[in-house]
Amino acid sequence: AEGDADKGERVFNKCKACHEVGADAKNKVGPTLNGIVGAPAAHLGDEFNYSDAMLEAAEGGLVWTEENLAEYLTKPRDFMPGNKMSFAGLRKEQEIADVIAYLQTFPAE
Ligand code: HEM
Repeated sequence: AEGDADKGERVFNKCKACHEVGADAKNKVGPTLNGIVGAPAAHLGDEFNYSDAMLEAAEGGLVWTEENLAEYLTKPRDFMPGNKMSFAGLRKEQEIADVIAYLQTFPAE
């Protein structure tokens, strides 16, 4: 299904405890997410304290796509055992498409 970025902004409320996007975004519990779609895993490199699992995925060549982000956001721990995003996951396919569309409105700096 096509994602709706406006609806995705509301879905992103579930992410905001840990993530920021936009020009003034700062790392919180989780890394900033500007430009994340199309970026390699652990896209901030040394600027964020990633788990070993995320760093290994990055070394293995994982690049975030709409498809694998949808999987990660459905069940973070199943997609990447050992990653440290403490988030149960989004259940609705449409919500996931919408939040990914929203993230795509924030290019990398
Ligand atoms: C990592 C998205 C909710 C904490 C990530 C990454 C993405 C992401 C794409 C990988 C970043 C990278 O490779 O640089 C989202 C979205 C959320 C969400 C879209 C909401 C639907 C949360 C919540 C928390 C959280 C609620 C905190 C309770 C983290 C942490 C990492 C991370 C700590 C780093 C994981 C690691 O190094 O293993 N998130 N996240 N996220 N997220 Fe989230």
